[in-house]
Amino acid sequence: MRVLLLGSGGREHALAWKIAQSSTLEELFIAPGNAGTKMHGKNVDLQPTDFEAVKKFVIEYAIDMVIVGPEEPMVLGIHDFFLNDDEIKHVGVIGPQKEAAQLEGSKDYAKEFMKRHNIPTAKYDTFTAATLEAGYKFLESLPAPYVLKADGLAAGKGVLILDKLDVAKKELKDMLVGAKFGKASSKVVIEQFLKGIELSVFVVTDGDSYKILPEAKDYKRIGEGDTGLNTGGMGAISPVPFADSTFMDKVENQIIIPTIKGLKQDNIPYKGFIFFGLINVKNEPYVIEYNVRMGDPETEVVMPRLKSDLLDLLEGITTNTLSERDIQFDERSCCTVMMVSGGYPEDYEKGKQIFGLNSVSNSIVFHAGTKSDGPAVMTAGGRVLAVTSYGRNLENALDKSYDSIKNIEYEKAYFRRDIGYDVVER
Ligand code: AMP
Ligand code: GLY
Repeated sequence: MRVLLLGSGGREHALAWKIAQSSTLEELFIAPGNAGTKMHGKNVDLQPTDFEAVKKFVIEYAIDMVIVGPEEPMVLGIHDFFLNDDEIKHVGVIGPQKEAAQLEGSKDYAKEFMKRHNIPTAKYDTFTAATLEAGYKFLESLPAPYVLKADGLAAGKGVLILDKLDVAKKELKDMLVGAKFGKASSKVVIEQFLKGIELSVFVVTDGDSYKILPEAKDYKRIGEGDTGLNTGGMGAISPVPFADSTFMDKVENQIIIPTIKGLKQDNIPYKGFIFFGLINVKNEPYVIEYNVRMGDPETEVVMPRLKSDLLDLLEGITTNTLSERDIQFDERSCCTVMMVSGGYPEDYEKGKQIFGLNSVSNSIVFHAGTKSDGPAVMTAGGRVLAVTSYGRNLENALDKSYDSIKNIEYEKAYFRRDIGYDVVER
């Protein structure tokens, strides 16, 4: 199979690493990729949202399957673009069409979907500038803290959790009337706050059947002890110790099955990954959010724990034969620790040379924000490297990643030393 993978982060490096192990792979291209992805295929200088350029490449290089890493091309309708074009409609696309991509692209759409299909989630209501007063009243009816979510995509910044009612009201007005997040906050979802511990569950689906991938837990805050600003994710572990079979049965029966059935009932086609952002409240799972892609850095622990051939599973999606495919997991535990640029998630510098990558032998170093400069590897983003390790348990995996990091150097490197702290004794 000839495959084009769209994206350029740690998620895409982990996907490329896994795809490269497939027995049916003929050639892999990654657009635009990073200094890590090119160890497993050819990087192509193409932007994933430039659909015409993607089409041209797909035709010229006789691509059979396009795997979409990030959400933006899906929300913009890349899959629909393929289906509506006779020259490329035969190409398999992994990633849902525009309609289902709203599950990530619009918080209100996702909440409506969950309400319609009785999927457990926080109580909520949605407001616009015209209903600002009703929004204030709804806030008054809720106990603190207050959860405000910009309806649209806001680069991970659109969710505010506030302790004080007057601050929440002011922020609500800023979002709706002051366009704090631009068009993304022309609608705002106000939610009941749920107290619990979060985890990420992933499935692949062809729209009829589904397979559950290994679950993971992500560490989103920049500071140790989960403090400071939110980031894209500073590390991840898999498996998640509290996600035992009783809990995962609830996730499957109360959340995954109703989601897949709900999509079918609503006539919404879905081919790709579904990422369930869940919270465990006293052993009951609730959906915090849907994403229509894999998580980052979760992919950097989920792909290593997938024993089965990924392209075989994905071919099951494009040919509607997923139910016939086999899925097996690696029994080992896995962790990843993200190395970032000093200053991230605020301003940071790029273009620092990275040393020591070749002296890491006990971990897999997935590249996130990196770029080649001749033989040198340079930093090119906030999140730079995801240092992944297997272990007989999580503690052992974490020890290996932290040991490997000692070999890697670049100016102003930062990483959290406490990944897994809340669920693993080290
Ligand atoms: P989201 O973009 O919807 O995933 O929200 C970002 C983060 O805000 C989540 O990962 C949670 O940590 C937190 N969050 C969102 N909604 C809630 C909620 N209803 N209760 C508690 N925390 C929440
Ligand atoms: N790690 C969270 C995300 O990918 O959205």
